[in-house]
Amino acid sequence: MTGEPFYVTTPIYYVNDSPHIGHAYTTVAVDTLARFMRLDGRRVLFLTGTDEHGQKVDKSARDKGIDPQTFCDTVSQNFRDMNVMMNVSNDQFIRTTEPRHIAASQALWLELEKRGEIYLGKFAGWYSVRDEAFYEESELKEGKAPTGADVEWVEEENYFFKLSAWRERLLAYYDAHPDFIAPRARRNEIVSFVKGDLRDLSISRTSFKWGVPVPGNEKHVMYVWLDALTNYLTAVGYPDTDAPDYKTFWPADLHMVGKDIIRFHCVYWPAFLMAAGLPVPKRIYGHGWWTVEGQKMSKSLGNFLTAGDLVAKYGLDPLRYFMLRELPFGSDGDFSHRAMVGRINGDLANDIGNLAQRVLSFVNKNGGAQVPTPGAYKETDEALLKAARDLLSKVRAEFSEQSFNKGLETIWQVIGDSNRYVDSEAPWTLRKTDPARMATVLYVLMEAIRHVAILAQPVMPQSMAKLLDQLAVPAHQRDFAALDTALVPGTALPKPEGIFPRFVDTVPA
Ligand code: MSP
Repeated sequence: MTGEPFYVTTPIYYVNDSPHIGHAYTTVAVDTLARFMRLDGRRVLFLTGTDEHGQKVDKSARDKGIDPQTFCDTVSQNFRDMNVMMNVSNDQFIRTTEPRHIAASQALWLELEKRGEIYLGKFAGWYSVRDEAFYEESELKEGKAPTGADVEWVEEENYFFKLSAWRERLLAYYDAHPDFIAPRARRNEIVSFVKGDLRDLSISRTSFKWGVPVPGNEKHVMYVWLDALTNYLTAVGYPDTDAPDYKTFWPADLHMVGKDIIRFHCVYWPAFLMAAGLPVPKRIYGHGWWTVEGQKMSKSLGNFLTAGDLVAKYGLDPLRYFMLRELPFGSDGDFSHRAMVGRINGDLANDIGNLAQRVLSFVNKNGGAQVPTPGAYKETDEALLKAARDLLSKVRAEFSEQSFNKGLETIWQVIGDSNRYVDSEAPWTLRKTDPARMATVLYVLMEAIRHVAILAQPVMPQSMAKLLDQLAVPAHQRDFAALDTALVPGTALPKPEGIFPRFVDTVPA
C-alpha cells in the first residue's frame, strides 16, 4: 500500500467494563476516519485494544474471584467481539499484557531514567482507583474526585517523573502547534491546567502487583497510565526506532480520546515523549460524552446501553450514522430512542432510502434495468452534477477536522438537492412525453447517488456497499479516485431492494 501514512488510534479500553455505547462511539469515529483515509488513498494504521493493568482491573478480577490474567483474557475478547459486531476495520488490536508491550514500556522507562527524568521519592496524596488518577487536595469536591469518583489517601515510596520541569516546553509546544489539541475548548482547559501548579507525577506503585514491573526495582509496578500510553509506541515497534512501522507511522496523526482523558494525552504523554527524545503526536481530539435519555449512563441506574443491544434494535449502519450525525463532534449529547428513530425514518428511510428506491425501481421498470444513456445536459442537470462532484473536497476538509456531523450534513445536502430534482424534473411524466430526456434525468440522478454512496461508505460500509451493488459499480471503482469515473450507459442493473426500512415502534412511544 502506498500513499501518505495516517496513524490513528482509539484509547485502549479498561477491561473492567463490558463494551457500551461510549466505547463503541470512540471506536466508530476512528473507524470512519480510517476508512475515509484508505478510500482517499492514504496508507492507514488503525490501532485499538485493551488496557489491562492497574488497580482497577486488579480489583475487578479479585471481586470476581478470578486471577487478573484470566479475567483480562475474557473481557479483552468482549472488545474484539464488539469490533467485529460494529464492523470495525482496525489493523491491530493491542493488549498491554503482551510481552512486546511490557518490553516497550520498560524500554521507555529506562530511557527516561537514563536521561535523568525519574527520581525515587515519597508520595502522599489522593488517588482514585476508578479514574486511575492522582488528585490535588484543591481539586476535590466534597471529598470526591471532580469526576465524582471516590478517592483514597495514598502514602508510598514512589518513583516520580519530573513533569514540573516540562511546563514551559509544553506551553511552547501548544503555542507552536495550535491544532495539537481539539476542539478549542479542550485546548483552553489544558493550557490553563499546565499554567497552574504543575507538579511532578508519581509513576509507580508498590501497594499491588498487577502492572509492568519497574526495571531494576521489582517492588514497584509502573503507574498504569505510563504503561497504557506507551501502547501507541509498542504497536509501531518501539523500542526499535528502525522498525518499518515506526519509521512510517510515528508520530501518530491522531489520538482520538474522550474528554475525560485529555489530561493524560495532552500533558503527560507529550511530556514523556519529549523527555525521552521522541517526536510528539500531531493531534489529540477530545470528544464529548453521551448521556442516555437525559441521564448519565450507569449500571446502578439500569440505563447502561451495550453496543450489542443497540445494534440488535436499530441495525448497525443506522447506529453508526446516528452516533456521528446526531451531535457536533466534540460536544456532549443525549442518546434517546426518539432521536434515533427520527434519524432512521428521516435521514435514512425518507431521504437517502427513498431517493435510491424511487430512482432505481423506476429505472428497473421503465429503463430496461440498465444504466440509462444521457443526452445533452441542461443547467439543472449540470447544477446537480456539480454539487455531487464538489462533495469530495468539502467532505475531506470536514472529516480531516473530525467534523463528522458537518461532513454528513454536506452529503445530505446533495441528497436533498437530488430529491428536489426528481420532483421538479418528474421523470414519470417524461416517460410519455420525452423518453430521451427521462434517460438523462435518471442518469444524472444515478450519478449523484453514486457520489453519495461512495462518500458515505466510511460511516455506513455495509449499506453503501449494497447501494453501490445496485448501481452496478464494480468493487475496484469505489474509492475516492473513482469518483472521477462515471456510470457506463447500458450496464445491466440488478433488481433494487430497499436499504433502509422505516423503524416502526411496536409499542407506541
Ligand atoms: N484505559 C483508559 C484509556 C487509556 S488510553 C492510553 C480509559 N479507558 S475507558 O475504558 O475507561 O474509556 C475509554 C474511552 O471510552 C474514553 O475515551 C472515554 O471517554 C470513552 N467513554 C466512556 N464512556 C463514555 C460515554 N458515556 N460517552 C462517550 N464516551 C465515553 O479511559
